[in-house]
Amino acid sequence: MLEKIKKSASFVKSKVTIEPEVGIILGTGLGGLVHSIEQQQILEYQDIPNFPLSTVEGHSGRLIFGVLGGKKVVAMQGRFHFYEGYDMGQVTFPVRVMKFLNIKCLFVSNASGGMNKAFSVGDLMIINDHINCLPNPLIGKNIAELGPRFPDMSEPYNKKMIALCEGVAGKLGIKVQKGCYVGTTGPTFETPKEYGYFQRIGGDAVGMSTVPEVIVARHMGIPVFAMSIITDLGGDDIAMNVSHEEVQKVGAMAEKKMTQIMTGMLQELNFAAL
Ligand code: HPA
Repeated sequence: MLEKIKKSASFVKSKVTIEPEVGIILGTGLGGLVHSIEQQQILEYQDIPNFPLSTVEGHSGRLIFGVLGGKKVVAMQGRFHFYEGYDMGQVTFPVRVMKFLNIKCLFVSNASGGMNKAFSVGDLMIINDHINCLPNPLIGKNIAELGPRFPDMSEPYNKKMIALCEGVAGKLGIKVQKGCYVGTTGPTFETPKEYGYFQRIGGDAVGMSTVPEVIVARHMGIPVFAMSIITDLGGDDIAMNVSHEEVQKVGAMAEKKMTQIMTGMLQELNFAAL
């Protein structure tokens, strides 16, 4: 695994002149952030040795290098979900490669279903904790060069980045929620009772991604910031129909707010203070 990661990273370094400081994983309906990235250099996943290939909508997926908010970034356009049939090593492989590209922090976005009664469709939620209901990506022989056997998870989402986000959102006049993200395998959306269950165990929103990548990033000591778009609502007594199309539509509507916040955060981000 380690050799594969290093080989992918050295290939990327040989092709791209930008040395990224920030990794970004672009989730469902948030691809528009890409249009704000300047000085782009692009690598197709299919051209990078050992990279998994994306199955979604005929896109193989791409790594987009460039400048956003004055910081050098690498953005993943197309991520890998466990429900697509990838194993956890594949789902998290790009994050490990990004570590070897020397990123100093990771931004993640996704779409999720809200269980918190104070939430509305279209809200943005800062993820401040998670509950993992997927297989743990660190199961198996630990690679000591990546991180410890038993990683600390007391601060899965960086508190300084959360505070920065709240400040930036406040200045922009954008309302943000905060809460705990429950990560499930999917691909089914939740039944009303499952939404209710996830709410009672402490979740505010539920989705099918992010947690594996965050665990792997924290294993390697990378500070993480993650934000979710609440694309639908669920609960014991809420029988709301959810569809992939609706998730995409609401995701696209909230895209501009998310882009403004992330760009503002990058502008103000001080790596040394993380
Ligand atoms: N459940 C799981 N994943 C999701 C949801 C949901 O309600 N909405 C968007 N992604």
